[in-house]
Amino acid sequence: MRVFLTTYGCQANERDSETILGLLAQMGYEKTNEESKADLILLNTCSIRDKAEQKVFSYLGTLKQYKKAKPDLVIGLCGCMAQETDMGDLIRQRAPQVDFILGTHRLHRLPEMIRNALGGAGFQADQEETTEIVEALPSVRPYRFKALINITFGCDHFCSYCIVPYVRGRERSRRMEDILAESRLRVEEGAKELQFLGQNVNAYGKAQGHAGPYGSFADLLVQAEKIDGLERIRFLTSHPRDFAEDLIQVIAESRKVARHIHLPVQSGSNRILRSMNRGYDRETYLALTEGIRRQIPDVTLTTDIIVGFPGESDEDLQDTLDLLNQVGFGSAFTFMYSPRKGTPAAKMDKQIPLQEKRKRLQAVMEVQQANNLRVHQSLIGKELRVLAENWEDGLLSGRAEGNQLTYFAGEAGETGKFHQVRITKARIWTLEGESCGHG
Ligand code: 5AD
Ligand code: SF4
Repeated sequence: MRVFLTTYGCQANERDSETILGLLAQMGYEKTNEESKADLILLNTCSIRDKAEQKVFSYLGTLKQYKKAKPDLVIGLCGCMAQETDMGDLIRQRAPQVDFILGTHRLHRLPEMIRNALGGAGFQADQEETTEIVEALPSVRPYRFKALINITFGCDHFCSYCIVPYVRGRERSRRMEDILAESRLRVEEGAKELQFLGQNVNAYGKAQGHAGPYGSFADLLVQAEKIDGLERIRFLTSHPRDFAEDLIQVIAESRKVARHIHLPVQSGSNRILRSMNRGYDRETYLALTEGIRRQIPDVTLTTDIIVGFPGESDEDLQDTLDLLNQVGFGSAFTFMYSPRKGTPAAKMDKQIPLQEKRKRLQAVMEVQQANNLRVHQSLIGKELRVLAENWEDGLLSGRAEGNQLTYFAGEAGETGKFHQVRITKARIWTLEGESCGHG
C-alpha cells in the first residue's frame, strides 16, 4: 500500500505530517511521490489565507482522474481546512471524490478513518475539538539531524484577522517533561538541532500559571540546554505581547539557543494594531526590540507584515515602512490581508481593493528587500556557524545562526554537520561563503 502526502502551511502542519507518516508506516503504508501509484492520497491543508485554500480546491480537482482510474483509491483531507465548520458540506458539494475530512484535534483517529473508508463507509468527517493532548504518537521525519518539537497547540489571542484560534483551538501546553523526553529521544536518534514550535511559544505554560509540570518558556529553554549532544535550539513563533524579560536573559546567556527571534509585528500603525487586537503598540514593540538588541547584540530579528488590513490608510502604510527601516529586520514575510470567514476583521468596513493591496505589498517588499540586503552585507567577512542540511551540484546549504540560508562548496557527505562558513557574498535572500572547517 502506498501513500501520497502533500503538506501546505506552517511548521505545525509539517510536524503533523511527520505524525501522519508515522501512523501510516504502522499500518504498512510506504511513501510514494506519484499520485498515480498511490492507494491513499492525503492533503494536510492550511487555512491562513484564501490563496492556500484555493490551491487545495484546484489540486483536488486534478485528483478526480486518479479516483476514476482506481475507484478504491482513498482521498483524505487533514489539517486546518478540515477543521473549518462548514468544510464538510463544502467538500461534499465541490469535491465529492474526497472520502474523509479529519480536523487538527484528533490526528490519532487517522488509521480508523482510513480503515472505514476502505470498508466502504462513505463520506466521514471528524471535526471534534478536544483539549486532550495525545502523547507518543509515532512519526517519520525527513531529516535525522534536526527535529520539530511541539510545545504548545492552538492560540488564545484572537487577532481580529486570524483563523488559527478557530482551526487549531484554544491554547494548550504540553507537560515540560513530555517535551524534554521527546527532545532527548530525538537527540539520541541523531538530532543536533531542535525547533520548538507553538503559535505563541512565549505563552508556554501560561494557562497553568507556569507552575507544576509546566514552568515558563524560559524554564523550558534552560532545561533543554542541558541535553548532551544537542547543539542548537530554535523556536517559532514569538508574540511581542508575551515576550518576558527573563526570556531575553536566558537567550543572551545560552550557548545553544540560536540568536534569531521571529517576532511578527504585522503593522507599524497604532491605529491598525489596535484594530488587529494585537495587544501592543508601536512604541512597546520598538522598546522590546531595543531591549532584545541591548542584551543580545548579535541577534537577527525577523517579522511578518500584513498590508491592506481594513481601514489601512497611506499614512498607516507609511508607519509600517518606517518601522521596517527603524528595526532593520533580517527578513520579513509579507502578506496581503485575506478576509477569513468567522473572524471579526472580515466584517469590518473599508476593506481594501485587491489592486491597492498589491501595490502596498510591492511597496513593503521593496523596502524590506533593501533591508535584507543591508543586513546580509553586514555579514560579509564574518564566520557564521551553519548546519548543512542539503547538497546539490557540489553546494551545501543550510541555515546560519540568524536563520540566513547560506550556500558553500562541500561534499554530499557533509550534510548534518555544523560548518564554520566565512561569508563572501550577500544576496537579498541568501548568503554565499567558504567552509573553514567543522565547528
Ligand atoms: N491574511 C493575511 N495574512 C495573515 N496572517 C494571518 N492571518 C492572515 C490573514 N487573514 C499572517 C500573519 C501571521 C502569518 C503566519 O500569517 O502575518 O503572522
Ligand atoms: Fe496554516 Fe495556521 Fe494551520 Fe499553520 S496553523 S497550517 S499557518 S492555518
